[in-house]
Amino acid sequence: MFESPLRRTTVVAFANQKGGVGKSTTAINLGAALSGMGEQILIIDCDPQSNATSGLGIDRRFVDKSVYDVILGEATLDEIILPTGVDRLALAPSSIDLAAVEIELVARFSRERQMAIAIDKLGYEYDFVFIDCPPSLGLITVNALTAADEVIIPIQAEYYALEGLSQLLKSIQAIQLNLNPTLEIEGAVITMLDRRTTLGTDVAQQVREHFGSKAYQAVIPRTVRLAEAPSFGEPIEAFDPKSRGAIAYRELAEEFRRRHGRRS
Ligand SMILES: Nc1ncnc2c1ncn2[C@@H]1O[C@H](COP(=O)(O)OP(=O)(O)OP(=O)(O)O)[C@@H](O)[C@H]1O
Ligand SMILES: [Mg+2]
Repeated sequence: MFESPLRRTTVVAFANQKGGVGKSTTAINLGAALSGMGEQILIIDCDPQSNATSGLGIDRRFVDKSVYDVILGEATLDEIILPTGVDRLALAPSSIDLAAVEIELVARFSRERQMAIAIDKLGYEYDFVFIDCPPSLGLITVNALTAADEVIIPIQAEYYALEGLSQLLKSIQAIQLNLNPTLEIEGAVITMLDRRTTLGTDVAQQVREHFGSKAYQAVIPRTVRLAEAPSFGEPIEAFDPKSRGAIAYRELAEEFRRRHGRRS
């Protein structure tokens, strides 16, 4: 059967065990910017904190089945996926139960592959499936990296930005060796950059030295609007499309599409 290389689903994990670096914000806003450019996107919220779920306007109190049930093999992704307020952007919601999944998985067969198995069974071919990881390198993140074709590492422009990175890179290598040999580091995205400080620009420079061409040219600035949007349950593209944050995420989306062979 002929398979178009441009139309296969690509699974991208957003990972960094450091908390609060912009994983969820980048998954949501890059996802929304891409859907605005015509791509069909699914975001899988793998974090018990449910920030991607609430940031897309879904109240987790009303989530019946979640990624928790999927990872335990008690529901399919198709059964839990919800539409969001954004066209072409769907969400597999998280719930607080997910916090227990690490323990429940321990004794299971193929415990690292549950997410990969679930994604293989998706009934609809999305252009990109984004997995928003929790801030740890535990079994949920291992599941995400085992299911992923690519990983994007958001890096906050602050002191010690690169600290802990070697741990993440070691985990990625271990997964490449044992579970998912084709996993690639797709890129690193600098987030929350304050251009008025030399610190911010120094960190950006360090990230570029470390990641070379894998560091995205587009950089996400620190803006109040980006911090406010999740409490309105909207991506920045819907909340304030003219803001600097929205412009930056559209630039990131354009670069992401070029890197994935899209022509325009
Ligand atoms: N560019 C930005 N400008 C201002 N605030 C931002 C920006 N990006 C993210 N934030 C805010 O910083 C906080 C952390 O961001 P986010 O939740 O995306 O990080 P995370 O890596 O997913 O965190 P966690 O590790 O807890 O999952 C959030 O309150 C978010 O709204
Ligand atoms: Mg998060």
